[in-house]
Amino acid sequence: MAGITDAEFLNKVIPYGFNVATLGGYSLDKPTIEASRRIIERGRKEFDFPLDEIFTHIACEIDKIKKVHKNVKVSANVRSTTPQPIIEVGNIENLDIVEINCHCRQDEIVSIGCGQEMLNRSDLADFISQVVENTKSEVSVKIRTNVDNVNTLQIAGMISDAGADYLHIDAMKKGVFEADWELLSEICNNVKIKVIGNNSVNSQVNLEKMIGTGVDGFSIARSIISGHLDFNISDF
Ligand SMILES: Cc1cc2nc3c(=O)[nH]c(=O)nc-3n(C[C@H](O)[C@H](O)[C@H](O)COP(=O)(O)O)c2cc1C
Repeated sequence: MAGITDAEFLNKVIPYGFNVATLGGYSLDKPTIEASRRIIERGRKEFDFPLDEIFTHIACEIDKIKKVHKNVKVSANVRSTTPQPIIEVGNIENLDIVEINCHCRQDEIVSIGCGQEMLNRSDLADFISQVVENTKSEVSVKIRTNVDNVNTLQIAGMISDAGADYLHIDAMKKGVFEADWELLSEICNNVKIKVIGNNSVNSQVNLEKMIGTGVDGFSIARSIISGHLDFNISDF
């Protein structure tokens, strides 16, 4: 979660039973950094690091987690208009997973062709392949379901074919406060890539619904910041 999930935050919540911790989202190039600053100006939280500091900053944050939680995989969720800065993050020594953010829906990010707008880019497969081929980390692609004019199942297949290791899906369903369990099941049944389900894991009931879709793993965001993680995630 931009502006929130730094090493200090993640070190506090990892002991609840997480085996992967995601830093970021971080903006990595001039257009995305400028977009992040415009988001901050209108009062929303974002990480704000200049170009000449961001890569060192991420490396330090990874080390702060690894020092305390050696067996936890560290992932970095990142945005960039081109693959090169993402490749650079993917090659940071102690990083396990670099996550390409095709998910953010803030206007400032979408208007420069990043975040969920990546799903409409004709070069998305090539973008992902370039990251996969040139980084030593595993590669995750984070997407959102039910984006207008986007066929999520088709995109999921394309991400799998491009060689990514994980498809991290925010199974958001417009107008309801629960994930799109059916679409998530359909994706799990039809793609070969490991699927990490996300959205509305905020109770034992929803956790069981999430597991029932066939996901290989799941992630939790808002329940962590609200402090209401009063269900058992470590049995999964
Ligand atoms: C304040 C806030 C900031 C977020 N920032 C990011 C981000 O930087 N990158 C990202 O991929 N998702 C981001 N998200 C989305 C969450 O990671 C997650 O996909 C979404 O909240 C649905 O999951 P949940 O129901 O467990 O909260 C953010 C969510 C919130 C509430």
